[in-house]
Amino acid sequence: MKYGYFDNENREYVITRPDAPAPWTNYLGTEKFCSVISHNAGGYAFYNSPEYNRITKFRTNASFDRPGHYVYLRDDDTGDYWSISWQPVAKSLNEANYEVRHGLSYSKFRCEYSSIVATKTLFVPKGEDVEIWDVVIRNTGDTPRKISAFSFVEFSFSHIASDNQNHQMSLYSAGTSYQQGVIEYDLFYNTDEFEGFYYLASTFEPDSYDGQRDQFLGLYRDESNPIAVEQGQCSNSAQTCYNHCGSLHKQFELQPGEEVRFAYLLGIGKGNGQRLRQHYQKPHNVDSAFAQIQQHWQQRCDQFQVRSPNPGLDTMINTWTLYQAETCVVWSRFASFIEVGGRTGLGYRDTAQDAISVPHTNPDKTRKRLIDLLRGQVQAGYGLHLFDPDWFDPDKADVAPSKSPTVVPTPSNEDKIHGIKDTCSDDHLWLIPTICRYVMETGDHDFIDQVIPYADGGEDTVYQHMKAALDFSALHVGQSGICKGLRADWNDCLNLGGGESAMVSFLHFWALQEFIALAQYRGKTQDAEHYTRMAADVKEACESELWDEEGGWYIRGLTQQGDKIGTAQQTEGRIHLESNTLAVLSGLAEPARGQQAMDAVDQHLFSDYGLHLNAPSFSTPNDDIGFVTRVYQGVKENGAIFSHPNPWAWVAEAKLGRGDRAMKFYDALNPYNQNDMIEKRIAEPYSYVQFVMGRDHQDHGRANHPWLTGTSGWAYFAVTNFILGIRTGFDALTIDPCIPTDWPGFEVTRQWRGARYVITVENPSGVSKGVKRIQLNGSAIEGDILAQPQGTVNHVVVTLG
Ligand code: GLC
Repeated sequence: MKYGYFDNENREYVITRPDAPAPWTNYLGTEKFCSVISHNAGGYAFYNSPEYNRITKFRTNASFDRPGHYVYLRDDDTGDYWSISWQPVAKSLNEANYEVRHGLSYSKFRCEYSSIVATKTLFVPKGEDVEIWDVVIRNTGDTPRKISAFSFVEFSFSHIASDNQNHQMSLYSAGTSYQQGVIEYDLFYNTDEFEGFYYLASTFEPDSYDGQRDQFLGLYRDESNPIAVEQGQCSNSAQTCYNHCGSLHKQFELQPGEEVRFAYLLGIGKGNGQRLRQHYQKPHNVDSAFAQIQQHWQQRCDQFQVRSPNPGLDTMINTWTLYQAETCVVWSRFASFIEVGGRTGLGYRDTAQDAISVPHTNPDKTRKRLIDLLRGQVQAGYGLHLFDPDWFDPDKADVAPSKSPTVVPTPSNEDKIHGIKDTCSDDHLWLIPTICRYVMETGDHDFIDQVIPYADGGEDTVYQHMKAALDFSALHVGQSGICKGLRADWNDCLNLGGGESAMVSFLHFWALQEFIALAQYRGKTQDAEHYTRMAADVKEACESELWDEEGGWYIRGLTQQGDKIGTAQQTEGRIHLESNTLAVLSGLAEPARGQQAMDAVDQHLFSDYGLHLNAPSFSTPNDDIGFVTRVYQGVKENGAIFSHPNPWAWVAEAKLGRGDRAMKFYDALNPYNQNDMIEKRIAEPYSYVQFVMGRDHQDHGRANHPWLTGTSGWAYFAVTNFILGIRTGFDALTIDPCIPTDWPGFEVTRQWRGARYVITVENPSGVSKGVKRIQLNGSAIEGDILAQPQGTVNHVVVTLG
């Protein structure tokens, strides 16, 4: 069963049936103003922090996605009314036609009903903190019509997300006022701050308005049947206290074939409503703001485009996976329909991994994120698991504390840094490959010498920060010489404490390899030698302690009591994805063991929806292993198809040269391939999700938690760098694909340091890996492609064989 299709030309996903089995969401905004909006226009907006600057309200855990950012239409001759999005009025799908196009940072809703075609395009322009609703209503019938339009948003009860369920002081200090086409909502009674003032404006002169939610909806009603719409008129309400909304109403008379275009504006900041409604009264200003958003994404997508024999891979890599990865880098794990913004700040490991995926499309944000993370690292080398980058931003520290209640509070030092008991064993290690990849992409070598403070005082160069991270992991090992698991490793639910994590030792090895290459490149011979010895020790410990001979795979770790986790002897949690994939990805496993381990992964963890995280699921609580043993079977970290480490398996197979297997794993997880089986998947088919129910759960195949998952960055990185095999180095571009044997070839265009590379890979002998010949601009070359002069277009032909 399907509900829509991918429109590649427009980079849109088109929903043709609005009764999809879940709200399918999109993100609007590329700077500080963000809206998370579903295909039924449900959702909410926030400014900068979804926890502390919630603009519109959203009900969590309800069985529908309300309220939202709605436009109602009413036939003023008959009293019939509907909404441009299917919900909330929900006209019968036999009478009305709806189409929704989720595009890159915009969503376009179209409705055809009773000879009226209406569209509503929501987007957040660059440089302004406002969501524009560009509305067009057209009379396609042959009689004149009187049509009323009403907006509706429910303003957040408090700026703090959780206070929306827990009404306190804002009961008495919030109010709406109306003036000349603008409803202003003041959350803090006459504060002069920018934040805390929200508005809803229209580019038309309204006939009526409502700032009071209950006046607009009416008693014992909801968004599906507002009294104001039913009666064709708002009651001009605006006052202090109670619940607040933004509804601006206007009646239009439309001759046959005639259309009207206007905009609603949902924004922040006193006075901005009046200024912007003047500006956007000119439709060409709306058009040019929209064009800027399109250019923003065109420029990013242009950095890497592929044409391969796998249309699902092309669609995802060229548009959706990049878009999702960028969304994670910008909005972190802040806000979705699942994680509705109850926390502010960055997850250390999440951000460190997200940032590896977009140094080519968003180098500034990548650099900013790296600096945030380096400032959130303590001298001992570990990272603060959860922190707000503003705490350590010197520009913010100098600013006098604001009296505004909406500004994110800064905790005391003890509340920022909790010490080793709160430390995760992997966080800091992800930084190292990401820093190296950033430098390789941009050539910004000065970054490595930049001095950055530590969270707990003192400062050092980025290079020394990297050494501190590697040294921390070398020091914090258990009895077997394997890294301690501490509060958790990458797996939040594996809480080994003083027990040992195979996964972290493999990750340590990978980080060491990346660092050694950097040290060598910079002529730091002693460091290169020192860390090469450290890597040799890590390898020895891993190979002697972690291989399970009977199973033919790597175990997951050891409990504090020295019990092995993940052996063939066990009946639950026998084999795990993270340790086996990272053993190979990191380069630690010798090929024979690597192949054996990945064969075991294929045999025991593969399903049609992707690779399980572990199998069989744990069923017996065991606090030496961790919370994972208390999660239901087949769910999340306990035996689900946890998406994030799936791409580690694609990289591992690509490193082993097994392109068919890498693609089999890729295709299984690819949401695109589940477009026609939504009855199983439920979630949107253009977004990776955090996890898919595993085979030990009755909903096996159901996808949960879309959008904010490290899967997108990893999927993008794995495909572009290891399957398509186009990798930037410190000075040169490597092309080393690992593709299915039945691919005759593929083409990529890639921008790198100001030059364009048009790459054709040919595979005449049907191999997976191995480059026989490379031609650059018509001449044969040996090895990698040195960076070409800026502004040049370079034709590269690679022959595999
Ligand atoms: C979630 C967390 C991430 C963690 C993963 C596995 O995705 O955001 O930090 O690594 O779960 O537990």
